[in-house]
Amino acid sequence: MKLVKLIANLGYGSRKEVAAMVRQGRITNARGETLSVDDRVEHAQVRIDGEPLDPPFPLTIMLHKPAGYTCSTIDVGATVYDLLPGRFRLRSPLLASVGRLDRETTGLLLMTDDGALLHKITSPKSKLEKVYEATLARDLRGDEGEIFASGKLQLRSEETPLAPAKLEVLGPRRARVTLTEGRYHQVRRMFAAVGNHVERLHRCRIGGLTLGDLPEGKWRVLTEHDRAQLFGRALP
Ligand code: URA
Repeated sequence: MKLVKLIANLGYGSRKEVAAMVRQGRITNARGETLSVDDRVEHAQVRIDGEPLDPPFPLTIMLHKPAGYTCSTIDVGATVYDLLPGRFRLRSPLLASVGRLDRETTGLLLMTDDGALLHKITSPKSKLEKVYEATLARDLRGDEGEIFASGKLQLRSEETPLAPAKLEVLGPRRARVTLTEGRYHQVRRMFAAVGNHVERLHRCRIGGLTLGDLPEGKWRVLTEHDRAQLFGRALP
């Protein structure tokens, strides 16, 4: 690929800005020799200010999302892009969140520029488990597990009932919920449908992938091992 296109697509700047970086001699090959705008280059061979480039397409990262950030690219408040290098917002193709977490929901968020992977994770057909831990405003009644597992729970303004979901009781006001679909505000609306209110919500797992020891607010690139974990534990 042409040098300017490669670097502009990674979000380092517009083609004009990248051309200026080239003229300033900031862009070199691995041996430190300056490159010119029309050079055809391999991603791994290019350096900017002596540093290797950000990972190429396809890129998938995991983020430990804190409360208070939306998954939108445009929002008046803080967005998950504020937790990443600024140029990640400008990559082409775009690095998008894989399904959304609400502003106040914390936990595991995947972001990718790989449309096929995004579809594979979010499609209800893939039945990939998404696991949440909820802290509730009121004690559990005792019948929630049966209702969630029934496959008959119909949320207001939805045309079809929810797929069966699993509930594990962690305490009088704490529960783990496993879903295989991702409807709008699903966990919060499920608990509202059984007369409760979610005060805190944390996603701890997607498929077989967890956050491990990734601190809140931090991100890292997904490894091959992570990918294997992600698809290793779908519901039967
Ligand atoms: N369900 C919710 O209610 N909120 C989320 O962020 C994710 C699932």
